[in-house]
Amino acid sequence: MRIVFIGPPGAGKGTQAGRLIQLLEIPHLSTGDMLREAQQTQSEFGETAAEYMAAGKLVPDELILKIVHQRLSQNDCLQGCLFDGFPRTEPQAVALDAILAEQCSRLDHVLELRVEEDEILARLALRGRSDDQPDVIRKRLKSYLELTRPLVAYYERKNLLRPINGTGTTDEVFGRVRDAIGVTNDTSGDSAA
Ligand code: AP5
Ligand code: MG
Repeated sequence: MRIVFIGPPGAGKGTQAGRLIQLLEIPHLSTGDMLREAQQTQSEFGETAAEYMAAGKLVPDELILKIVHQRLSQNDCLQGCLFDGFPRTEPQAVALDAILAEQCSRLDHVLELRVEEDEILARLALRGRSDDQPDVIRKRLKSYLELTRPLVAYYERKNLLRPINGTGTTDEVFGRVRDAIGVTNDTSGDSAA
């Protein structure tokens, strides 16, 4: 199965993705995590990405697409994968469709986690990652609304969009995620491909 998690910062994409990859036994492709790992290597790529991330801006599409393309060519992605925080722009979404088509595959579901702004601010204030300062969160939210939210309509047109209420306990949200993709705990082994 190939699944995308889309949603504003703090919506719970990473939290729910972590649970879903265990259930489906597929790799977790978080572009945010990949970029934070690149920062640790102090490469030129990592330093460039860090500047965008610290400013709450999206990293340029060509850099993101390069790392995603490399990752998707690895064997563990052949049976499926879960995208967390990617795609985030229409060019990224179009490129993902093309990469998957080359592999004779396609997305199965796009899970849109919906959470109100007040709840997002409260969650991120509690977490305190380096890009969780209030001014950076505002910029991340702005990037989401301007560049990423339009993908909701893009995937709706393709009949892939599954809107999910992202508030409540993580267990409650995970129950909605499972319902949205029609997978229960009992069928995890059969549903990975
Ligand atoms: P990224 O790392 O993807 O961050 P984000 O989208 O801003 O989202 P977060 O990771 O903050 O939130 P989340 O939805 O994963 O929520 P989480 O589960 O952590 O991207 C960071 C940056 O990298 C971007 O700003 C950009 O610069 C760059 N980037 C990444 N991908 C890119 C791309 N494709 N193109 C261009 N640039 C890209 O939960 C948040 C908190 O809430 C946690 O503390 C969690 O414990 C808590 N929580 C979760 N669920 C619940 C719940 N149900 N109730 C209460 N608390 C909850
Ligand atoms: Mg995340």
